[in-house]
Amino acid sequence: MFNRIHQPTKSDRMKKLLLNVPLLLFFLILYAQCQFKQEKSQLTKLWSKQGNARSILNFGKDWKFFLGDVAGAEALSFDDSAWRKLIVPHDWSIEGEFSEKNPATPNGGALPGGIGWYRKSFNIADDDLNRSVFIDFDGVYQNSEVWINGHSLGKRFYGYSSFRYELTPFLVSGANLIAVKVDNSTQPNSRWYSGSGIYRNVWLVTTGKTHIDHWGTFVTTPEISDALAKVKIETTIKNNLSKGQELVLETVILDPDGNKVASGRMKTDGIKDSIVNSNFDFEVNNPVLWNLDSPQLYSAVSQVFVDGDLVDTYSTVFGIRSFEFNAEKGFFLNGKNIKINGVCNHHDLGCLGAAINKRALERQIEILKEMGCNAIRTSHNPPAPELLDLADRMGMIIMDEAFDMWKKPKNKFDYSTVWDQMHKKDLQDLIRRDRNHPSVMIWSIGNEILEQWDSTGISIGKELAGYVQELDTTRLITSACNDPKPYNNIIRSGALDLIGYNYHQNTFPDFPKEFPGQKFIGTETVSALMTRGVYDMPSEEIRRWPAEKDWKGKMPNADHTCSSYDNVSTPWGSTHEETWKVIKKHDFLSGQFIWTGFDYLGEPTPYWWPSRSSYFGIVDLAGFPKDVYYMYQSEWTNKDVLHIFPHWNWKKGQTVDIWAYSNAEEVELFLNDQSLGVKKKAGDDLHLMWKVPFAPGTLKAISRTGGKDILVKEVKTAGAHAKLIVTADRSSIAADATDLSFVTVDVVDVNGVLVPDANNLIKFQIEGSGTIVGVDNGDPVSHESFKASQRKAFHGKCLVVVQSGETAGIVKLTASSEGLPATTIEITTK
Ligand code: GAL
Repeated sequence: MFNRIHQPTKSDRMKKLLLNVPLLLFFLILYAQCQFKQEKSQLTKLWSKQGNARSILNFGKDWKFFLGDVAGAEALSFDDSAWRKLIVPHDWSIEGEFSEKNPATPNGGALPGGIGWYRKSFNIADDDLNRSVFIDFDGVYQNSEVWINGHSLGKRFYGYSSFRYELTPFLVSGANLIAVKVDNSTQPNSRWYSGSGIYRNVWLVTTGKTHIDHWGTFVTTPEISDALAKVKIETTIKNNLSKGQELVLETVILDPDGNKVASGRMKTDGIKDSIVNSNFDFEVNNPVLWNLDSPQLYSAVSQVFVDGDLVDTYSTVFGIRSFEFNAEKGFFLNGKNIKINGVCNHHDLGCLGAAINKRALERQIEILKEMGCNAIRTSHNPPAPELLDLADRMGMIIMDEAFDMWKKPKNKFDYSTVWDQMHKKDLQDLIRRDRNHPSVMIWSIGNEILEQWDSTGISIGKELAGYVQELDTTRLITSACNDPKPYNNIIRSGALDLIGYNYHQNTFPDFPKEFPGQKFIGTETVSALMTRGVYDMPSEEIRRWPAEKDWKGKMPNADHTCSSYDNVSTPWGSTHEETWKVIKKHDFLSGQFIWTGFDYLGEPTPYWWPSRSSYFGIVDLAGFPKDVYYMYQSEWTNKDVLHIFPHWNWKKGQTVDIWAYSNAEEVELFLNDQSLGVKKKAGDDLHLMWKVPFAPGTLKAISRTGGKDILVKEVKTAGAHAKLIVTADRSSIAADATDLSFVTVDVVDVNGVLVPDANNLIKFQIEGSGTIVGVDNGDPVSHESFKASQRKAFHGKCLVVVQSGETAGIVKLTASSEGLPATTIEITTK
């Protein structure tokens, strides 16, 4: 259909000249320099025109919200003047009160669901009435219906899918109205905290009548070498042209510095089809590869011209990288063998609830990367698009997961209720949306799917894999199997490129025998349990909790805590060390996704109410690392690591287990300058331990390699609380009404030593262009509101999250607590 116009690149031209007229080298250089300048200026033009061709407007401001059902709220004439004004993303559940009676149950975070309505009035300029206008929702939990000016645009059940509606035929000049009903009242519908509402971003997209379709490009890199990468771009254009009009698609590839490195042009006249697919093949010389330490990103800028006028511009970010799973050797990225050291995470952001905030996610990834983690599984649903943008930009591998259940329910009102009507669309929309992200390397078609044990596991498994392959054959397909045996129907279906194991680490070594020639991934591992700051001895005694199969057993610790010595796990899981020791040993084990990186709301295993959030995280709900974080850091990074714990406030004479995580050759421990001996790890040890009778003072550890001191760490006995240390993760943030500063408060004694059992109530006051959007302390049993301006410390620490306003200035945050001097810090918003 299209006539391909070959447009030689600068390097093509250079090659010819070099071959044919070597003596004109001088002129060649001059020519190349001029071309470069010219192309740069063309590019600047191209970017400045983009605004006219396609506008993408964040549609988050000025919504009206009502919690409850209201008849007729979709109508234009409805009076919403009494409704609350807010900005979306918004999660109403996180604003509610914890109660065991909330229908979500403690598994769903014990927070309320219900029905909510959102309305937003907006203006459309007359010019835009002749263009195409769309509203894009990144995610609405759940069961939403959207109206424009009283016309229903459609319903979407799955709260994790992104979707678009076209507004064009219903728009009028001047004021228009969007109404959204969100119904999260049928509960339980989730095994974890879901949140409720328009909890992800909303966009208003305006294009020419002829435009690139929603998720309308697909970039692949079929061949990569040091010298050259072949880049293939499939573009889908929605065409509204009458006969005889000329359509031109021009695509430019920009390297990570924004320089044009390849381009192509295609032209056609008088097409009748409304959808046009075109394929471009490009060559990029000396490609800079995307990898975990230096995640270099290219972009493809596609422009559509009709009769010479630019009508749409569409930008696709992509990376050039190759990866492979090998049955014997595990995982390779760009030819380099690495282990996938990943974590599973749910989507909530602790005290911010499910309402997406890019900085909050970025902080999570920063904390994980610092630990040496290189991969995230989006358990068990499509993530917010921002997660993938960040993973691309920060260098993380993603396992992108579609479902937690298929046709067979795990909860009465879950996705299984709409499986038949929706699964194909939801799965294919996920693939279409996410298939250009270099970070995405694995598609998971489901977690612990009950059809594993049913013959329909074969047919549905094949069906789903077919839907994925129609849209993308460059990633591997897996499913997280909690009965990973050859008789498993999903495995038997042949749908899986990677055999996904949930737990069963003791059978990992048998994998090559069990599944000859197949490839392994630990889709979900560990499920160890810990409360930050809690230490139960003897530390070498492993607790498997809940002890009773029916969960009716006596609650192990009356205060609903779990020890942080890595000595508590679920019976189906393992301690962190138990699984890592196995994975570390065998090359064919490509890696794992640990349950979980961060604590999350809901699923308070091994306890039930009053607990309301998980104990699984390597990092607690507030973002404070638990001790085992440093075990991974000592194993997964090249940094020198020495971490000793627990705290040093015990009863006189009590024998205390002191652990050290270190990657040096040896560690020597001292109590009040008396050596307690040098220890070296033996065999597959991952920590060192001393049993030390308590005497107040200072514990000091020195790590050494080759006889040289590497690091020194001290833990001191804390006296009475005396002051607050307030530390912002960033003291300068953007004045954009979304950026965040995460502020930690430590309760310390006169010498600045953290008071390990401090639980003081800390009150916050804020002045200037900022607000408090959340408080937390990582305690899974606390029923204090996350949306308050005070929080009790938990094991000496709490968190307050400050959000910028729209005006630049200084935010003053004061933390105070009875009997302690108030402490103020300043955060600049720019
Ligand atoms: C797994 C499940 C996860 C979570 C975890 C807790 O079986 O896939 O969603 O429930 O158990 O250990």
